[in-house]
Amino acid sequence: MELRTLGHTGIRVSPLGLGTVKLGRNRQVKYPHPFELPDDRAVRILLGLAADLGLNLLDTAPAYGCSQARLGRLLPGPRQRWVIVSKVGEIFEDGQSRFDFGYDYTLRTVEDSLRTLRTDYLDAVLIHSDGDDLRILEREPVVAALQRLKERGLIRAHGLSGKTLAGGLRAVAELDLVMVTCNPAYPDEIPVLEAAAHQGKGVLIKKGLQSGHLAGPDGVHAALRFIFSQPGVSGLIVGTLSPEHLRANVAALAEVLG
Ligand SMILES: NC(=O)c1ccc[n+]([C@@H]2O[C@H](COP(=O)([O-])OP(=O)(O)OC[C@H]3O[C@@H](n4cnc5c(N)ncnc54)[C@H](OP(=O)(O)O)[C@@H]3O)[C@@H](O)[C@H]2O)c1
Repeated sequence: MELRTLGHTGIRVSPLGLGTVKLGRNRQVKYPHPFELPDDRAVRILLGLAADLGLNLLDTAPAYGCSQARLGRLLPGPRQRWVIVSKVGEIFEDGQSRFDFGYDYTLRTVEDSLRTLRTDYLDAVLIHSDGDDLRILEREPVVAALQRLKERGLIRAHGLSGKTLAGGLRAVAELDLVMVTCNPAYPDEIPVLEAAAHQGKGVLIKKGLQSGHLAGPDGVHAALRFIFSQPGVSGLIVGTLSPEHLRANVAALAEVLG
């Protein structure tokens, strides 16, 4: 799979990335069907297949249950082979989310993530928004903390996984990359992609398959075509537990990208 640049970060990512919520969390999620967490063997197979198919991009977060711990234990190959994107701000405990965008908390979260993921750097860390993107960016010290982590060499890039158009636009101006929801049923934040393309910032797409609420293979094709015809898209993060779906998504993307 031909790698793409992630804005001006110097990081190169496969256009398809693996979202790992479903490796670690099955409560308070919005997928169409309930599911059991996979066992270690299934996770090993999925990660090995992702590597064989040429994916290098992984998206995780402390709020994704045991996702980080499983990646830390089960990720195959040398660390440098992978681009690991994690997050700060959301804490998921006892089936509930809460949020903390404080300076010290942000530093501690990334230090904990490094230990859990068994690595000494993260490629990118995104602010895991609670929906109030602009307030977080304007009033919370999380951006200053991420900047400090960059200076310490613990993270290579920072960004926002946001939920609003205004927040996405602000993040494009201030941070290295944005993670944006984009699919045919939700084109609302496309101006963020346009701004990122204009300013040379990285763009990762989330929920491109509407979190599984798409109809059949035609729906997947149409969604991929829609997403990759937008400006500035570096990569699409698709969450899956299914080797068949992973193969199908790679094949569909190859057709779409021609
Ligand atoms: N705030 C945030 O930062 C945030 C929020 C949401 C998501 N994310 C990130 O973005 C990733 C993707 O988001 P998402 O998981 O909500 O949505 P998504 O990638 O749009 O959809 C994932 C769902 O689609 C299904 N699927 C995948 N390929 C398929 C195919 N070929 N045919 C039919 N169904 C298919 C998967 O089920 P199977 O397991 O059966 O394949 C899964 O339930 C997450 O894993 C996470 O890493 C971040």
